[in-house]
Amino acid sequence: MAEPLVDGYGRVHRDLRISVTDRCNFRCTYCMPAEGMDWLPRSEVLTFEEIERVARVCVERFGIDGIRLTGGEPTVRAHLPVLVAKLAALRVGGTGPPVDLALTTNGATLRSVAGDLVAAGLRRVNVSLDTLRRDRFVELTRRDELDHVLEGIDAALEAGLSPVKVNVVVMRGVNDDEVVDLAAFGRERGVTVRFIEWMPLDADRRWSSEAVVSQAEIVAAIDAVFPLEPLARGHEPAERFAYRDGRGEVGVIPSVTRPFCASCDRIRLTAEGQLRACLFAVEEVDLRALLRGGASDDELAEAVRACVAGKWAGHMIGQVQFVRPPRSMSQIGG
Ligand code: 5AD
Ligand code: SF4
Repeated sequence: MAEPLVDGYGRVHRDLRISVTDRCNFRCTYCMPAEGMDWLPRSEVLTFEEIERVARVCVERFGIDGIRLTGGEPTVRAHLPVLVAKLAALRVGGTGPPVDLALTTNGATLRSVAGDLVAAGLRRVNVSLDTLRRDRFVELTRRDELDHVLEGIDAALEAGLSPVKVNVVVMRGVNDDEVVDLAAFGRERGVTVRFIEWMPLDADRRWSSEAVVSQAEIVAAIDAVFPLEPLARGHEPAERFAYRDGRGEVGVIPSVTRPFCASCDRIRLTAEGQLRACLFAVEEVDLRALLRGGASDDELAEAVRACVAGKWAGHMIGQVQFVRPPRSMSQIGG
């Protein structure tokens, strides 16, 4: 029997997010600066074997049953399907079912890698897409890749990834006028769109609470055109709504106005092997030092336990106690 990974507030952790690289082929304004990112030297990034070892301890000993690969942009890491195959072979508790293996990607290269990822054991994918307008896409991501991302979404569906979700970060005065268009896009393509409240994790530090478009505003805008009905909130952070005409559903992730910290079940491993109990954590546990210092699985497990035991209640964005983490989203992993 796996030992549950419980923190001081009784939250059981089942979801591990692994950043496989800090690099990205986009430069989204809400995440990275236009220039001057200092990439980690390759020697500081965990090898696939090191990632697999951490994942194995989490899955076999602690019953972690969901793993999501993130970045940076995970598909820019060479041979990603090799890692996917290693993780797909893990069994929950050692002898249980395989883990639910997912990927968060900007979609630009999906059309060439989706098939290989599925063959290696990937099941689900979330693609980031914040606008359907080419000029705006270029402004937002600083890359002219909209067509490739749209092709990537189609490729993911064709490759049998299910569900395919589209993540939209909504920012006031930037893309909030496209909420209904993006919802319509999801209905037409048969993908679940999830609108995300913008969090203060941008390298440029342009975030302000006024720029956050709230869940209430997002839902009202969609509901006015495509009437919605709330669904029960599941295990995930998204609050879900069904279209009353039966054409699928839409989600909103109210990270700022209605944080889901109280039911958070996630831990995060950065590309350089630091374990974080929260996106906004200011403290990290250096698993790479343990991995490269000859630590045993027991020692690794103890470090994972200690990291989770120190997890705080929540992020407190908007309150005076809030401390912005020194890393931006691409350096943590979504
Ligand atoms: N606030 C909210 N979501 C963000 N993402 C990246 N930066 C931010 C931010 N500052 C999202 C991306 C992607 C996922 C990895 O996180 O759009 O969907
Ligand atoms: Fe790259 Fe994702 Fe950051 Fe955009 S949000 S720059 S795609 S890591």
